[in-house]
Amino acid sequence: MSDLHSHHDHSGAAEAVLAEELVLGHNSHIAVHASSFFIPAGKVTTVIGPNGSGKSTLLHAIAGLISPLSGSLRVLDAQPQTRREHISYVLQNTTVPVGTPITVAETVMMGRYPGLGLMRRPSKLDRARVSEAMEKLRITDLAKRHLGELSGGQRQRVYVAQGIAQDHDLLLLDEPLTGLDIGSAQTIDEIIHQEPEGGCTVILTTHDLDEARASDFVVLLAGRVIAAGPPAAVLTNEHLLTAYGLGGLHRSEDAEPTTDHHHHDHSDHDHQHGH
Ligand SMILES: Nc1ncnc2c1ncn2[C@@H]1O[C@H](COP(=O)(O)OP(=O)(O)OP(=O)(O)O)[C@@H](O)[C@H]1O
Ligand SMILES: [Mg+2]
Repeated sequence: MSDLHSHHDHSGAAEAVLAEELVLGHNSHIAVHASSFFIPAGKVTTVIGPNGSGKSTLLHAIAGLISPLSGSLRVLDAQPQTRREHISYVLQNTTVPVGTPITVAETVMMGRYPGLGLMRRPSKLDRARVSEAMEKLRITDLAKRHLGELSGGQRQRVYVAQGIAQDHDLLLLDEPLTGLDIGSAQTIDEIIHQEPEGGCTVILTTHDLDEARASDFVVLLAGRVIAAGPPAAVLTNEHLLTAYGLGGLHRSEDAEPTTDHHHHDHSDHDHQHGH
């Protein structure tokens, strides 16, 4: 792993995330039952699974925002909470109240000041990182618009720009491609796959099997980790049936795709699977 990030001090561990008998939940409600797995450093990993299967919860835990109920979780070779300044986290469905007086450029700039707001004067480097990120996400022309005046997809691009403008060794993206048009999804997809060139680890959640197949590593969730490993080993019919249940999915290489309906998750059918 090349080391362009000088603050990158986790001594070259091969794993960005190491979980042993990890249990996650909200209060006493368990979202992820005891699971042991790792996520490789310097690669793109997708986390895939039905609605309510624990994907966002896992990302929260990796970001150090919630603590495990039991078991252990190591991120960049340390406790997740101690690694926050190395982690850039783009949340799922972030909404802003209408009338929020912050502009696109200011929002992206906030990535340069994690947790501090716009308290100090931006440096040359700050400005360079921000315009670079806005160029990459093709939102430069939106720079002066207020966040509340954007479409959902435009706003999502702004948040991804904020995420990549922030210094990081680990980039966490919760459904960054959901709801985007083809061009925007492709742009973000390219950015995601460029990140490892600088030594960064990317972990994203998705509902898109093709996206998972195109990544280096996959974690399949359904209330616990069903499988974790290279796409071909994880996205097997057997594992997908375990995670999604019968009748929901077909794979193109299967002989008899009898129905052509894509799997649409029934929302809020909490994870009855995989126990
Ligand atoms: N803040 C919360 N308080 C209590 N329970 C929660 C909270 N957030 C999530 N849960 C529950 O934890 C479980 C996992 O939710 P999570 O958001 O991690 O699922 P997900 O895989 O990200 O789903 P989706 O595909 O819909 O984004 C669900 O049963 C959910 O209802
Ligand atoms: Mg989620």
